[in-house]
Amino acid sequence: MNYVQISSLIFSQVGKSVMIDPQYYSLLFPLFDDIERFDTMTDSIRELTILQPDDWHIHLRDDLALSTTVPHAASSFNRVICMPNLVPPVKNAQDAIAYRARIMEQLAASDLSLERKSAFDPRMTLYLTDNTTAQDIELAAQSGIVQAVKLYPAGATTNSADGVTNINACVDVFEALEKYNLPLLIHGEVTQDHIDIFDREKRFLDEVLAQIIVKFPTLKIVVEHITTSDAADFVLSQGNHVAATITPQHLMFNRNHLLVGGIKPHFYCLPILKRESHQKVLLDVATSGNPKFFLGTDSAPHATDKKEAACGCAGCYSAATALPLYATAFDSIGKIDKLEGFASRFGAQFYGLPLNESTITLVNTPMQVPTDYPYFDGASLTPLMAGETLPWSIKA
Ligand code: NCD
Ligand code: ZN
Repeated sequence: MNYVQISSLIFSQVGKSVMIDPQYYSLLFPLFDDIERFDTMTDSIRELTILQPDDWHIHLRDDLALSTTVPHAASSFNRVICMPNLVPPVKNAQDAIAYRARIMEQLAASDLSLERKSAFDPRMTLYLTDNTTAQDIELAAQSGIVQAVKLYPAGATTNSADGVTNINACVDVFEALEKYNLPLLIHGEVTQDHIDIFDREKRFLDEVLAQIIVKFPTLKIVVEHITTSDAADFVLSQGNHVAATITPQHLMFNRNHLLVGGIKPHFYCLPILKRESHQKVLLDVATSGNPKFFLGTDSAPHATDKKEAACGCAGCYSAATALPLYATAFDSIGKIDKLEGFASRFGAQFYGLPLNESTITLVNTPMQVPTDYPYFDGASLTPLMAGETLPWSIKA
């Protein structure tokens, strides 16, 4: 029996608010060198120690924004996959190396502990355009810091104007990705004006992605920030080279939260929140222990005044509170024991990277999400669930 199975056993046997049944101590103690590495429950206190997590989809932005976003991300995540939709985008290995250096400069200037500074490892992505070549992919693979390539259909989301207009023209690039074993990360939405925004993900899977997979059967693909049961089913129906990330907002909320009782711009992101039945399926697959589904916050900062506007920007900011958010989502259906696989194991396994060795402890001591953070040029940044109380926090 491994750690996670034992955690499940304890939770299923003793529930949330009583001591661990002494009969389980004999099961636990011989199995652990470090006896702090298990869930403890004394009265109503529960702790969960997991391997340090990674974020396989984050937007850190650039320049002055980095002084806010980098310390937030680095406070809990070791590896982060940095999205390339800057202005201008990160298009080749040289851009990626320069962008990573700017991130590392901000990391060094932050007041994070030395331990967090040395653990943080931003992994870069290239932004696929109509002009990306197979040679760009080869150089990216050789750079050692480019972990994947991101496909935005042109116009699908924030800063995607330079995205791909004709996916069928990307044959050479997809072949090169297969050759160098670099994953293709996909913003899976069609962009034609007449297609309903709530149908755009499913239409992309059926009409575009299914064909890419047939033509490139060994290409590693991550369907990013999935939002529908259709996407979950699609990923489940494919081989192990097709996986998905899931955001905290798509696990915790649905379109009623966005639209009922007044429009809530801080729940607006792309792909847009869907109906509750989709939210439930996403929570089921995220907590199922299936390694095809792993953590990608899609934390996407936009200054508060750019979101609370007549034409508000898409993106939810969650970098600083992502783990308590995910813990709250998992715990809401009694599956906190599945958090470690989703947050700290399955992504690394998919990317072929070693697991992290350090740990982080969550505790069910409530925390208040800040109402806002200072952002650059005097602006502020409003996080997901600003001002609300979460039942889980990170142990100091
Ligand atoms: C992202 C952003 O703001 O860069 N926005 C979002 O709503 N998720 C872009 C993206 O990932 O679609
Ligand atoms: Zn994103």
